[in-house]
Amino acid sequence: MAKTKTTFFCQNCGTQHAQWVGQCNNCKEWNTIVEEIIQKEEKRNWKVSSNKEKKTSKPLKVEEISLNPEERILCHNNELDNVLGGGIVKGAVVLLGGEPGIGKSTLLLQVALHIPQKVLYVSGEESQSQIKMRAERLDASTSNCLILTETNTQQIFKNIEEVQPDVLVIDSIQTLHTNSIEASPGSISQIRETSAELIKFAKETATPVILIGHINKEGHIAGPKILEHMVDVVLQFEGDRNHTYRILRSQKNRFGSTSELGIYEMLSNGLREVSNPSEILISKKDADLSGTAIASTLEGARPLMIEIQALVSTAVYGTPQRTTTGYNLKRLHMILAVLEKRAGFKLGAKDVFLNITGGIQVDDPAIDLAVVAAILSSNQDLAINPDVCFAAEVGLAGEIRPISRIEQRIVEAEKLGYKTFVASKYNKITIKNNSIKLLLVSKIEEAFATLFT
Ligand code: TYD
Ligand code: MG
Repeated sequence: MAKTKTTFFCQNCGTQHAQWVGQCNNCKEWNTIVEEIIQKEEKRNWKVSSNKEKKTSKPLKVEEISLNPEERILCHNNELDNVLGGGIVKGAVVLLGGEPGIGKSTLLLQVALHIPQKVLYVSGEESQSQIKMRAERLDASTSNCLILTETNTQQIFKNIEEVQPDVLVIDSIQTLHTNSIEASPGSISQIRETSAELIKFAKETATPVILIGHINKEGHIAGPKILEHMVDVVLQFEGDRNHTYRILRSQKNRFGSTSELGIYEMLSNGLREVSNPSEILISKKDADLSGTAIASTLEGARPLMIEIQALVSTAVYGTPQRTTTGYNLKRLHMILAVLEKRAGFKLGAKDVFLNITGGIQVDDPAIDLAVVAAILSSNQDLAINPDVCFAAEVGLAGEIRPISRIEQRIVEAEKLGYKTFVASKYNKITIKNNSIKLLLVSKIEEAFATLFT
């Protein structure tokens, strides 16, 4: 029998230490080092195994490898399927992280109830009746989903043998424990060991496994960093608990792109897929108001139309105030300086407030021109035609600069019914016969000579 051995782990970052110390020398947190019992590993010597055991794998040239396209199971949830790259791959292990109460259990239960395949939903966090109550809110009348409340992996595997599920969901990895080590559930070595068992199960039986993972106060998935390396896909569910919108991002995906993104709205009967995100980011108004402009931006690979609001007023106090929500304040200072110096607008003694509606933060430089438009519109108190949208960067010389993926943005703007698209003259646009009018400009004055008259 192997001898048991203990090691010291930091519960915050997962670093292994030879002895107990008060402060982790990796993440600098205090009092996070805990002694955990681990099994003594057998000495591995690669030469011994190559002598005694039969060879089971052999190296091949790339052209000799036959390609079997991976089989996927559709989740019947378009946003999730897109983020996964077209459904969940058989045998893949997906880790879904997010803050408490953001809706991880709701999302996966909703998917489990709508998938036609047999799903085993293992919960270590809630009782079967709690899950039943939640399922009733999600109104799924018939489903192939079985609920198990269990935290011991050996017991879970016994149930799996009996049920033979097509998909396994674990809520959450931090509640599981295995008999093979003695550390408490949620500790670094338990997370590592139980996830290794589940990954082995997934690969051997080609059953996809979805794990829910808690995140720590820095926003990373709690537990060893190695967990993120071991799984095939890492998804992050984010959003503000005070807003109803949630964003599903992929941080790592061995079977698809990480630039896809899913948007949901949390309603009283579960998560609604938002297929047209621009609807939530543009406020509906009856009268034409000055100080608003529509910008086209990209969130991941997805074009989004957002609304920029500006308020320019004479400064009441000595020093003018500049405040932004969702936009970089330094960039606003730069744009105001450009307007003052290159375009002759006297904004030096004015307060400027800038807001991006919908509570999102945008770094895309392509919204610069819309920021300029909103500021000038508020300053002159002239409304911009609501059918116009903007996508260009503003340079230090007051020039309008080209931006990336302009075609995608034009197609999105056209789809949403915008009539005029203002962009840089230097952008190469190859799409033709679009019904949207393109206004290509090279200077700030050119753009506004036509819009305000
Ligand atoms: P939950 O899925 O339990 O979050 P997590 O598993 O990430 O901790 O979601 C909890 C929140 O979602 C809770 O505050 C209530 C809300 N909710 C709804 O608004 N509508 C619903 O239909 C459900 C099931 C939950
Ligand atoms: Mg939960």
